[in-house]
Amino acid sequence: MTRTIGGVSLVDQLPYAPWTERGSVVDGEFRWRLGVRPLDLRDWIEMGPDAEGPDGWIAQKARLLDDHRPTVFQVLDDIEPECREIGDELVEHLKHRWPEPFVDVSLDANLHPLEAASRLVPEDLVVMAERDDRLVFGGGSVCFPNRWDLRSKLGLTLAEVHEPVAQLNDQLEPAVDRFLDRLTPERPFWRLGWGIIDVADGYTPADGTGADRPADPSVGELFVRVERETLRRFPETNCVLFTIRTYIAPIATVLADADSAVALADAVAAMSPGIVEYKALVGHVRPLVDLTHGA
Ligand code: HEM
Repeated sequence: MTRTIGGVSLVDQLPYAPWTERGSVVDGEFRWRLGVRPLDLRDWIEMGPDAEGPDGWIAQKARLLDDHRPTVFQVLDDIEPECREIGDELVEHLKHRWPEPFVDVSLDANLHPLEAASRLVPEDLVVMAERDDRLVFGGGSVCFPNRWDLRSKLGLTLAEVHEPVAQLNDQLEPAVDRFLDRLTPERPFWRLGWGIIDVADGYTPADGTGADRPADPSVGELFVRVERETLRRFPETNCVLFTIRTYIAPIATVLADADSAVALADAVAAMSPGIVEYKALVGHVRPLVDLTHGA
């Protein structure tokens, strides 16, 4: 039996299909995309059935924060003012957006404000803080990392954070820097990311503390993971909060729609070997293309 750690909180239908977006494949080559669009602040946080209940993301986060703390929670020592500003804003948002059940919600004063904020919502939270006139990775409550190590990111610039991602800085570093320079509290944004994974578990950290992985899964046994990310600057401390809401569904739910299936396979087939390796898709490209193109 496969061991899961974070638990299983699948959706029947992924709410987004970023692999179908125009610009993912240009002249037959997969391209990383900035893909940011204006965020209506009413939609800052996304609740939903997979977020709630004993196996929902919020309950899983509480368990992971208790049981795997060093892997899922890391902060710079001096990051409390930024986290308090974020936490206070989040509490106000929840009270107004979902008075039921959040009318009396507050940050747990016994916890670091980033952890207190994080325990309220399904999103993972990453804070970029101004240090020495540049934005650095100031802290994160990240219970659902897709094969990366939170500890290794603390204090890094965004280009350094993205360094392990094949071709990302070559294709997007100036655009990402420009975007963050221009990000103001008045105009938040959101974007999407996606991946294919071999376990029905959001907790897939790079430090080996995650779930057992199947030895040789077939394409039909895989899962598709979508990350809805928001980017918002905060006026008092000038920090930037990056939220990551994860959705996971069996790949069959994507393959059931012919257009989406072909777009997924075409995106994967257009990836360079470096990106295929980064996305842990080695061995899956050909079978996915054959499956969707009727070989
Ligand atoms: C507009 C801004 C951003 C863009 C376009 C962007 C883009 C990406 C992309 C394409 C990936 C590869 C993920 C995949 O498809 O498998 C990635 C990975 C990642 N991003 Fe970003 N990102 C942005 C902002 C941020 C921010 C603000 C943070 C938080 C500090 C962040 C943290 C990460 C991390 C930790 C990874 C995984 C890196 C690893 O594998 O070591 N990103 N990003």
